[in-house]
Amino acid sequence: MTDEPEEETPALLESFETTEEIKISSDPLERVVGQEEAVRLARIAASQGRHFLLVGPPGTGKSMIAQALALHLSRPTEEIRVVHNPENPERPMVEVKESDEVSKETEFKGSAEGEFIDPKEAPVNVAERLGYRCANCGGYSSPKEAFCPKCQQTKVSYGRSTTNNPFGDLLGGLVEVTMAGMAGRDRVTTTRKRFGKEEVVVFERAGEMIKVLDQQALENRRNFEKLSPRKVIVPIDRNPFILATGASETELLGDVRHDPYGGHPQLGTQPFDRVVAGAIHSAHQGVLFVDELPHLGHLQRFILTAMQEKRFPIAGRNPQSAGASVRVDNVPCDFIFVGACNIQDLHHILSPLRSRINGGGYEVLVETVMPDTDDNRMKLAQFVAQEITMDGKIPHATRESVGMVIEEAKKRARTIDNSDKSLTLRLRELGGLVRAAGDIAVGERAKYIEGKHIRDALRRARPVEEQIKDRYGSFLGGVSKDMSTSERESSPYHYWNEHAHDDKAGYR
Ligand SMILES: Nc1ncnc2c1ncn2[C@@H]1O[C@H](COP(=O)(O)OP(=O)(O)OP(=O)(O)O)[C@@H](O)[C@H]1O
Ligand SMILES: [Mg+2]
Repeated sequence: MTDEPEEETPALLESFETTEEIKISSDPLERVVGQEEAVRLARIAASQGRHFLLVGPPGTGKSMIAQALALHLSRPTEEIRVVHNPENPERPMVEVKESDEVSKETEFKGSAEGEFIDPKEAPVNVAERLGYRCANCGGYSSPKEAFCPKCQQTKVSYGRSTTNNPFGDLLGGLVEVTMAGMAGRDRVTTTRKRFGKEEVVVFERAGEMIKVLDQQALENRRNFEKLSPRKVIVPIDRNPFILATGASETELLGDVRHDPYGGHPQLGTQPFDRVVAGAIHSAHQGVLFVDELPHLGHLQRFILTAMQEKRFPIAGRNPQSAGASVRVDNVPCDFIFVGACNIQDLHHILSPLRSRINGGGYEVLVETVMPDTDDNRMKLAQFVAQEITMDGKIPHATRESVGMVIEEAKKRARTIDNSDKSLTLRLRELGGLVRAAGDIAVGERAKYIEGKHIRDALRRARPVEEQIKDRYGSFLGGVSKDMSTSERESSPYHYWNEHAHDDKAGYR
C-alpha cells in the first residue's frame, strides 16, 4: 500500500469532507457499484419478466442485484390457497384470489369476528355471567379464576341471576365452574334496543376481553362458516424475493405434512390443512433466487419444469408419511428465476436450464474490476458510505480514509486480477476493511474513521495465509512447522505422504 506514490485527490472526491454528506440512493439497483451491464439487464428482467443468470466470483454483488431486482417488481396481486375437497379430501383444490377479493374478505371476516370490549364496559350482569365480575364484591378478574381473588368467594352468585331463564343459567354456570375450572359460561345471548328496534346481541368470552357480536356480525359469521375450509399457503402480503440456495426437495417443491392420525376427520388434521408451499410457489409473481446453482444438482430439473409450466403440483414427498397420498394439482408458480454461480461451476448447470435462461432471459458475467477514473473513485466513496450506513455500528469516514480505501482497491485490482489502472469490484472484502477500520475507530471513540484506522485495519485484517507467509517465509513452511514430529508420524496422511509412492499396497 505504501509502495505507491501518493495520488492527487481528484476533483469529485473533494465534494465531501466525510461520507456523512454522501447521499445514498433509495433505488437498490443504484447502490450496486460498477456492474452497469448487469444492472441494466436486471431492470429489463424486472420489467419484462425475464430470467437471469449471474456468473462471477464471490462478493461482487450478485445477491445484491438479485434482491434489488425483486424490489423493482410490482407487488404480488394473487394469493394462493388450498381448499378442502369434500368429495375427496386427499385431492384438495387450489384457489387463486386477486388482491381486491382478498381485502374484501378480510374486511368481511373482521366484521364477522365482532368487536372486543373491556369487561368493565359490558353490562354488569353480562360480565358476571361470563365470569369476569364477582357477584359478591363487584371486583373484576380473569374468568380463569373460579374464585374471586378479592373476596375469596365463588364469583358466580346463582341466586342473583338476572336472566329471563334463571334455571338454564344456574345449570350452565354450575356445569362450567366444575368442569372447566372457569368461572361463568363462555357465551351470553341478550337483546338490546337500537334505533327503536329490538336486536339480538351475543357476548363471548375472549381471553381477558369480551367479544360482542351484533346481528350483522352474527349473520356474517354464519355466511363465513358456510364456505369450505381453506388454508392460505402463499399470502398476498409476501416478500417477493425467495432465496432457495441449498434448498431440499421439499423446501423447493412443497410438501404435505405427516399426520399421526392419518387425517382422521375428527382426530387428525385435514389434508388441505397440512399442505405447505415450496419456494417455487412462494416466489409466484416474484423472484426465485438460487445462489451456487450447480449445488442444487438434480433439483435443477424441477426448476426447469416449473419455469416451463408455471404450475407445479404439491404432493407429500415422504413415502412413509400419511401426506404421501395427498396431492394438489396446478399450484401456480410463475416466477422470475435468478441464478448465480462462479465460473468454475458453470458447466454443472443443467444445459436445458441454461438454454431456458438464454432463450427467455439474460446471462451476465459480472465485472471484477472497473477503470480507475474520477467517476469510479466517487462510486467507491458512495460504496463506503453505504457500507457504513448499512452496518449501523461504525462512524462515518473522512475523505482521507476513503482515499486510502480507494488505493487499496487499486492495489487489489492489480494483485488479484492483474489489472492495472483499475479498481477492484470484489467489494465484500473491501467492505470488510471498512468495517474493521470502523471497529478500531469505535474502540478509540473517534468521531470518524480516519486514515490511521484504515492503516491499522489493513495490518490486522490480513488473511491468515499472508500472516503465515510473513512468519515462516512461505505458506508450506508454516504447515510443516505447525506439525510437531510426533504429530507428523501419527497423522492419517503420514503413511500416504511418506510411503504411498513406493508401496502400492497403500492403495488397497
Ligand atoms: N457491486 C457492488 N456494489 C456495492 N456493494 C457491493 C457490490 N458487491 C458487493 N457489495 C457488498 O458486498 C456484499 C456482498 O455482496 P453479494 O452478497 O451481493 O455478493 P455475491 O456476488 O452474491 O457473492 P457470493 O458469490 O459469495 O454469493 C453486499 O451486501 C455489499 O455490501
Ligand atoms: Mg451471493
